[in-house]
Amino acid sequence: MLHVIDHPLIHQELSMARAPKTSSCDFRAAVRRIACLMTPRVCENLPTIPQEVETPLETMIGKILLRKITLVPILRAGLGFLDGFLDLIPHASVVHLGIKRNEITLAAETYYAKLPHDWDQREVVVLDPMLATGGSAISAIDQLKKAGAKNIRFACLVAAPEGVRAFEAQHPDVPIYTAALDRCLSQSGYILPGLGDAGDRLFDT
Ligand code: PRP
Ligand code: URA
Repeated sequence: MLHVIDHPLIHQELSMARAPKTSSCDFRAAVRRIACLMTPRVCENLPTIPQEVETPLETMIGKILLRKITLVPILRAGLGFLDGFLDLIPHASVVHLGIKRNEITLAAETYYAKLPHDWDQREVVVLDPMLATGGSAISAIDQLKKAGAKNIRFACLVAAPEGVRAFEAQHPDVPIYTAALDRCLSQSGYILPGLGDAGDRLFDT
């Protein structure tokens, strides 16, 4: 299921990030703030369990998360999206997945994967600013499911309708949260209107 997070503060930051004159430093800061603004929505229905809590005055039943949150940034651009999530969920684990799309074929190629084995007790949020053809996100989730992950959601900044369709066809059980659903993909696989190459803009390369 696709969730487009429609919020004035996100629109403001994303408009700034899209502009080509925005510096890398300002782009990185805007992406971080958008990730912060998205976090409560991305995590809104995570299961909780009751837990007894002592206040200075009495005992009450509070709630804690049922499963530990694991953030999975897809390198490299996912790293720029990670910080804002960690700002609000500092206790999250972080699992890195290196996936690069081939510039000619656009096929996703994995170059780094260090996956733990204990996925049963984890709530997984896969992070990548861009969902273009969907190849990178689909490959990431294929690998996580193969490793045993079950409770997975995917968060991005900008999605293309083509990528959303491909993703939902492969992983209908994984919700997608995005700050924007753009118009389409260009012939060379870039999102239109998009924001250009997210990795290059984040890291000034
Ligand atoms: C970008 C982006 C996604 C991918 C999206 O990464 O960060 O991972 O493209 O495209 P897709 O949906 O068509 O797979 P890229 O491969 O350019 O690598 P980078 O993050 O190292 O720049
Ligand atoms: N990856 C990017 O960084 N930008 C796009 O528009 C598509 C893929």
